[in-house]
Amino acid sequence: MNMQNTAYDTTAAQPVTEQETLLKVRNLQMDFGGLKAIQDVSMDLRAGIVTTLVGPNGAGKTTLFNMITGHLKPTAGEVEWLGDSLLGKPPWKIARQGIARTFQDLRLFTHMTVEENILTVMEQGGWLWQSGGMSAKTARQERVASILERTGLKDKARVRAIDLAYAERKFLCMARIMATDSRLWLLDEPASGLDPNSYGLFLELLRSEVANGITVCIIEHNLDIVVNISDRIAFLDQGRLLADGLPDEILNNPELAAIYFGER
Ligand SMILES: Nc1ncnc2c1ncn2[C@@H]1O[C@H](COP(=O)(O)OP(=O)(O)OP(=O)(O)O)[C@@H](O)[C@H]1O
Ligand SMILES: [Mg+2]
Repeated sequence: MNMQNTAYDTTAAQPVTEQETLLKVRNLQMDFGGLKAIQDVSMDLRAGIVTTLVGPNGAGKTTLFNMITGHLKPTAGEVEWLGDSLLGKPPWKIARQGIARTFQDLRLFTHMTVEENILTVMEQGGWLWQSGGMSAKTARQERVASILERTGLKDKARVRAIDLAYAERKFLCMARIMATDSRLWLLDEPASGLDPNSYGLFLELLRSEVANGITVCIIEHNLDIVVNISDRIAFLDQGRLLADGLPDEILNNPELAAIYFGER
């Protein structure tokens, strides 16, 4: 992509060759009838970094997430988490193994409050009638308070999700994934619809979570976010992985830019 006019902070890029691979996708294929939505895609998600999935609308990005999380059964190929196959496992089991996701269409509990939306994804060890009751409940409340603070939702704890502004709903999706204790986050366009004033908070949040050991794969269209967050970039087009590499290799590739901006 032609990023000449965009400030690209090369100091943010880390040496990204040695990390452990958490998730491996091998020769994945997804056919919807005659439509080949994903064709022979192989890629690794390495621990402790942000891999950004970019590509035009309909490239197959969400479909790839859906196959990893068990929401779709691949036509062919393999998905391995820490060396074990995830194929055939239901979404809840895959989530339990430490892979959490957000959805492009949010999927919040719209009539629950912000706080309740967060509580629904937390482990239930702290319910009053379970062992460890009161202290676990206090720990849980403190954790929710910290997440609310960090996502800018402190004053909205008792507001129903349906009554939030769109950007606040997006931050609620982040708050919920933060509450899951997962090791890998798959984020499907978490920053779309955010106003530029919210980008800073979003980037700061994501960076601090990655610094604390979270591994992220993020689908993102906004190039300002892409250049600021990516350690690696994978480029999908029409179901095929056209490139997978360091940000400056991908962002300075004129052929990919032509595809991305529809100048094919
Ligand atoms: N369940 C489905 N049944 C049939 N076709 C589908 C299904 N899900 C996705 N597709 C098709 O597969 C292709 C890839 O869709 P997908 O949603 O993965 O793209 P995307 O890269 O996430 O696009 P966007 O950037 O618009 O979100 C599209 O042509 C889409 O219409
Ligand atoms: Mg999508």
